Amino acid sequence: MRHLIDILDLTTEQIDGLIGTANDIIAHPDRYADKCHGKKLATLFYEPSTRTRLSFEAAMYELGGQVLGFSEAQSSSASKGESVADTARIISCYADIIAMRHFKEGAPLVASLHASVPVINAGDGGHNHPTQTLTDLLTIQKEKRRLNELVIGFCGDLKFGRTVHSLLNAMSRYDKVRFVLISPDELRIPEYLRHEMQTKGVCFRETQNLEESLPELDILYMTRVQRERFFNEADYIRLRDSYILTPEKLRSARADLSILHPLPRVNEISVQVDADPRACYFRQALYGKYIRMALILWLLDIQ
Ligand code: NCD
Repeated sequence: MRHLIDILDLTTEQIDGLIGTANDIIAHPDRYADKCHGKKLATLFYEPSTRTRLSFEAAMYELGGQVLGFSEAQSSSASKGESVADTARIISCYADIIAMRHFKEGAPLVASLHASVPVINAGDGGHNHPTQTLTDLLTIQKEKRRLNELVIGFCGDLKFGRTVHSLLNAMSRYDKVRFVLISPDELRIPEYLRHEMQTKGVCFRETQNLEESLPELDILYMTRVQRERFFNEADYIRLRDSYILTPEKLRSARADLSILHPLPRVNEISVQVDADPRACYFRQALYGKYIRMALILWLLDIQ
């Protein structure tokens, strides 16, 4: 049975296939309207979400399927002490596929080991977020018409930002991709990831300076400082406004820069940037629905 726990569970060919299906859905939505008739998606969200959960739900409805689930741990039996393993076993009796977001790293993996239906990691703590990465890859493909030969800047909370970790892993596999990792010292990428990237010979440099790095970038991936992962509020307050992207700063950027953000935005992109044609983040959120439709079909093995 197929699951999606880590973006590296997918080969680049499989990712190409999902992007192809997503583009076909965008072009011919009517052909897909009944593909999941009689199927149910369970969304098990132990952490807050707007885009991921609702785009999964919209995806399943647009495929003609149905949705059940919960959007906070408090309203599930987790609050009574039920384990993720037991919950996964139970939900397998009620649904054909599970999307799980959990505050603990590895929880969706545990679920996949006990479920008898496909499990999708919809974000596990500060670890990974493979379906956001699929969204990001579709966005890059649509904006740039390629996934190789790119200079990609990641800016903000690279330590706790799970979308960053998954996208770095995914993009590291494409040719001639170079990363500029822009963060305060305390929010640099985790050591395990740096080590993996060095071992694989991935081309990257780390810096604290956004302005200096901007002119060389094809893609700027902004992120929010992940308040919920901090141990202490004072550190969060000190670091939250480390980077604020403004129209003035963007003057030195390339005319064909693509600005991505997984959202939600807090303060790191000024709202004045939204009108800039280089701002892709709202389109990106829309693409998230289509790529999740493609993913559901693939995991359920529906042609
Ligand atoms: C991201 C997440 O949950 O990690 N949001 C999302 O799924 N689009 C990014 C974030 O919360 O900052």
